[in-house]
Amino acid sequence: MPQTRSSQASSLPNSCTAVVGLQWGDEGKGKAVDLLAADHHAIARYNGGANAGHSVVVGGQRFSLHLVPSGILYPGKAAVIGNGVVVDPWKLVEEIEGLRSRGVDTSGMMLSDRAHVVLPYHKIEDGLREDLLTRVPGTGAASREAIGTTRRGIGPAYADKIQRACAVRVGDLLSKEALSQKLGIALEMKASMLREWGAAAGDTEAAKLTHSRLLADATAVGEKLAPMVRDTTHYLHGLLGDGKRILFESANGTLLDVDHGTYPFVTGSSCVIAGIGTGTGVPPRLVGRVVGVMKAYSTRVGSGPLPTELKDATGNRIRERGREYGTTTGRPRRVGWLDLMAVRYSVMINGVTGLCITLLDVLAGFDELKVCTGYEIDGQPSDRFLPDAAALARVEPAWTTLPGFSEEIGGARKLSDLPANARRYIDFAAEFVGVPIDIVSVGPGREQTIVCG
Ligand code: GDP
Ligand code: IMO
Ligand code: MG
Repeated sequence: MPQTRSSQASSLPNSCTAVVGLQWGDEGKGKAVDLLAADHHAIARYNGGANAGHSVVVGGQRFSLHLVPSGILYPGKAAVIGNGVVVDPWKLVEEIEGLRSRGVDTSGMMLSDRAHVVLPYHKIEDGLREDLLTRVPGTGAASREAIGTTRRGIGPAYADKIQRACAVRVGDLLSKEALSQKLGIALEMKASMLREWGAAAGDTEAAKLTHSRLLADATAVGEKLAPMVRDTTHYLHGLLGDGKRILFESANGTLLDVDHGTYPFVTGSSCVIAGIGTGTGVPPRLVGRVVGVMKAYSTRVGSGPLPTELKDATGNRIRERGREYGTTTGRPRRVGWLDLMAVRYSVMINGVTGLCITLLDVLAGFDELKVCTGYEIDGQPSDRFLPDAAALARVEPAWTTLPGFSEEIGGARKLSDLPANARRYIDFAAEFVGVPIDIVSVGPGREQTIVCG
């Protein structure tokens, strides 16, 4: 039988690139993807959903991307949303229209017919579960720790995907009959949850969640997306067969990964590069370059342990200098010194080949910079990161103190432009985690970048 080009993956070179976050998200993946997109034919998102907020600043204009791949600002590139993404179709349409109104060419957008759909009841469920965790049963008083989700329906949509019976995929939006049946099952399965919500939300809100209304809304949004829906797995393999290179964009971060992150304070998907295989159908073997994005300090949004957290004036100073407020929810991010134990773990999990160190400019002006280079747990030293949240919460960091640098570095364009102590800081980090530095970012702008080597 003749082989199609797309079925020859076993003989293809490992010429694809992945960009993955090495901390708890918001490392600057959007900026890294925008930089690397120039050398690739297609950019593909493989996990997460509109919980992601990826910022790209080009020519002084800031773009906040949630579902659309961050390579979209290069005209002519294919921008693919893979099957592993959970897609809020209304948010996607809004995002694409917003980009078009700013003159961005979105003709390269493609959406997997097998990506799962986030529906309004997923967001309601997300919110109800979070609210439940913050209440003492029966009293209404605040109590247990919520995960601090983005309330974008991510966990419930992935749960339905695994549960299967009522999950809706993008392809279903294009078939009224299939959609009607699936929504019918979903509304039946979620009836008690929706009753509880309806009692609090009132009649007008609850009326929006009738079968007929949901079917009409979902069909209408499906019609808008229809031109970009396709079998993206075969599309990507076709590109590979033609010798084209693909850039994979991770959402969230390694320490938020559902398996390898600080469970249960994680998101619902595989953020690590292993997610490329399930989330796009491209074998991870074809990814030869793995760029691990590491912010020069630590941040975290939502709950869960952050061993190096700074709850003092130093933390506030870093938060303000780094404008550490969520791209998606606007929440202030928790801030801490760089945790190299955590980053070294993420480098190991992803097989990182080079670092992209971001937000180094934010650390200018401190006399000393502390980095975490060891852990102690229950009085014993630990030579490794502890991904279990309960264990990590008991960790005491061991510090190495490095000299700070006073000069602003936003104008640096080569390594030799950096002050000696800034160089020393990044070299120390790279040596500790055992991989070379590929890129140093010294400001949000595309041009505020040092490409190494
Ligand atoms: P992502 O989710 O990993 O794409 O990261 P976000 O976009 O949510 O957060 C990173 C923030 O830092 C954004 O506001 C970026 O514009 C900004 N940023 C990226 N790199 C740098 C840098 O080197 N210096 C400064 N000051 N800001 C940066
Ligand atoms: P980007 O791609 C930072 C966090 C949430 C919460 C936990 C679970 O911009 O780096 P979810 O809504 O996913 O169920 O929330 O994960 N979280 C992120 N934090 N950046 C992100 O994405 C995040 N995506 C999810 O704050 O703690
Ligand atoms: Mg972000």
